[in-house]
Amino acid sequence: MKLLVIGSGGREHALAWCLAKTPGLQKVFVAPGNAGTAAERGLENVDITDLDALADFAEEEKVSLTIVGPEAPLAAGIVNLFRTRGLKIFGPSKEAAQLESSKDFAKRFMTRHGIPTARFASFSERASAHAYVDQQGAPIVIKTDGLAAGKGVVVAMTVDEAHAALDRMLPAEGPRAPKGSRPGQVVIEEFLEGEEASFIVMVDGKDVLPLASSQDHKRIGDGDTGPNTGGMGAYSPALVVTPEVHAKAMREIILPTVRGMAAEGMPYTGFLYAGLMIGKDGSVKTVEFNCRLGDPEAQPILMRLKSDLFTLLDHAVAGKLDQVEASWDRRVALGVVLAAANYPSTPRTGDVISGLPKASEDSEDSHVFHAGTSERDGQTVTAGGRVLCVTALGDNVKQTQKRAYNLIIGIHFDGMQYRHDIGHRAMPR
Ligand code: AMP
Ligand code: GLY
Repeated sequence: MKLLVIGSGGREHALAWCLAKTPGLQKVFVAPGNAGTAAERGLENVDITDLDALADFAEEEKVSLTIVGPEAPLAAGIVNLFRTRGLKIFGPSKEAAQLESSKDFAKRFMTRHGIPTARFASFSERASAHAYVDQQGAPIVIKTDGLAAGKGVVVAMTVDEAHAALDRMLPAEGPRAPKGSRPGQVVIEEFLEGEEASFIVMVDGKDVLPLASSQDHKRIGDGDTGPNTGGMGAYSPALVVTPEVHAKAMREIILPTVRGMAAEGMPYTGFLYAGLMIGKDGSVKTVEFNCRLGDPEAQPILMRLKSDLFTLLDHAVAGKLDQVEASWDRRVALGVVLAAANYPSTPRTGDVISGLPKASEDSEDSHVFHAGTSERDGQTVTAGGRVLCVTALGDNVKQTQKRAYNLIIGIHFDGMQYRHDIGHRAMPR
């Protein structure tokens, strides 16, 4: 049996690494993969990104199942294409992926189905957007409508910041519109207070299998300071996802979403990620939907998965998710992202990485997942913003944190930056 994982980040390395444990497996192809997936036993990189070419490849190689990591191919309709060609694939259709690819779609959908989320208004015209900000005041949140790799959101603490964000995101009207500006759309949202958690489930169109909870660290700097990133580290389980929060998230967010999408003729299949804001009053609101596993959440989550991932995926694609359960390692998993110089604005690439553990040094309770890495003249070099995710398992957050940070000591590349406090919200204060 052969499998295909699409993508090149840390999430895809973790997916492929996890799938390589499948009994009876011949190979996991990763398209296009990174230097980590190239070196891993049981994995093989294939340098294809074009959707039609990926479908041709899956057909020729008789791939049993394709799993899509990132949002871009999903939003471009890779699942629709594979299904039309009779190829098995796990992910949402282009229509269902709008839950992530359009904030406006997601917000209107949530309103139609009574799913708790921040109050919002959508604008494509500058003057009315500015007027709305003046009327609402700060703090307030401004989001670009389309996919923006975690960088299209400004949490404005002052009205001035909000106005500046609108000027950047919406084109000026009239003849003085800056060259190259495109008509855009923004969603302006009420600022939600509370603690965030990532709640990720598998969906087969009607049934839901929740994965272990996790918490991401979105800001670049220690103590949650500085600009937003794709995620600087994550751990699982997230303490804030108590059994009550879990039940509420399922009852008020996930199940109505799955039922609502089916009722609207866009049955949801694939991983569904609800970013939760958990208020002090116990309220649970949806900050965003993603139509995929989180990155870096997938790395700690999949390190804790004890069930066979392929069995779960195979049942999901067959519409039989109600017949399986997932079991989880009781330990804590925690991953620290090592990012390139200048991340998140314009990450520098081409820096040589030294001190990576060899495959022979592989340990049961840690793994270095690659993201933005590639091979050059026999050396591993940086090739993206988030370069590595050093992930460890341990009996508690403190021990796991220590284990992950000890592993980092040996790893080096010029300009390497990372947070020193991954897991801080789960530590005794
Ligand atoms: P998003 O891409 O929608 O997940 O937004 C990125 C980050 O911005 C989230 O993880 C939150 O930390 C923050 N954020 C987004 N929307 C809100 C909101 N309505 N209130 C407070 N913070 C928000
Ligand atoms: N880590 C956040 C995300 O994957 O969107």
